[in-house]
Amino acid sequence: MKISFIGSGKVGVAVAYTTALKGLAQEIVLTDVSSDKAHGEALDILQGQAFCPQANIKHGEIEDTANSDIVVITAGIPRKADEPRVMLLSRNAGLIADITKKVVALSPHCIILMITNPLDVMTHLAYQASGLPAGRVIGMGTVLDTARYRSYLAQHFQVDARDLDAYVVGEHGETMVPLVTNISIKGVPLVNLPNYDAPAVTRIANEVRAASGQVIALKGGTVFAPAVAACAILEAIVHDNRQILPVSTFNSNYGTAVSLPTVIGRQGAGSTLVIPMSQAEEAALEHSIANIKKYLNEINC
Ligand code: 2OP
Repeated sequence: MKISFIGSGKVGVAVAYTTALKGLAQEIVLTDVSSDKAHGEALDILQGQAFCPQANIKHGEIEDTANSDIVVITAGIPRKADEPRVMLLSRNAGLIADITKKVVALSPHCIILMITNPLDVMTHLAYQASGLPAGRVIGMGTVLDTARYRSYLAQHFQVDARDLDAYVVGEHGETMVPLVTNISIKGVPLVNLPNYDAPAVTRIANEVRAASGQVIALKGGTVFAPAVAACAILEAIVHDNRQILPVSTFNSNYGTAVSLPTVIGRQGAGSTLVIPMSQAEEAALEHSIANIKKYLNEINC
């Protein structure tokens, strides 16, 4: 398994490091606009190899990503605390289309994992630019928001976050939809918990919407949660886990990339599952999809 990284900023490197720790690839290639940065980061990960699963960790130019199985794209300009993700639209759109074409020319059988924001728009653009089937262009999407939702819920209700079935769907952005009606713990509805607290769930849903802004304001950028969310997707692909993750993929019913619970395995994204929602949640999802499409219209896609 060869996994390459386009962009060796904080998030790209954290995903690469987690990939190395989990032994997900035999070959890891870091690239960046600054060759020195990619070189330094690759060396830093390599120098811990004595205590990690073995992998060939290198830096290089985009040409060195040839024949990758998975290419993780984090290139682009990150957002500031007071900026909605969509502010990055025009800054990152041309760059991502260009990078995607180069990546696919070098690795025609790869799966692309998009992490650059605004996530759904960039995933949509990469899908269009790549010529790949929709299931092979996967955006990290609301896997990250879902991780935050489950972590906060688990902390509040004092249960294991890994046992929680709770999803955030829609845009990885301001209109994301944390679903409240169907939260369960190992099949037991959350409302059955003796300490169930409906206002707390609503508060947590709001906190999830604000979660990344809070971290960016405090420490300048989100790093660790995006890295583990991205690695959950990589792991499901590498190990063909058939795990259900709310990745963003192009959805022909909606005409845009959007996050919904999807089966992830070695071929990339498979079936998207229909998740029961309240009428209000369905309306919120429609609003979220309309919002992504509005951004796509702004850049004539
Ligand atoms: C996040 O949600 C910045 O989109 C990134 O952490």
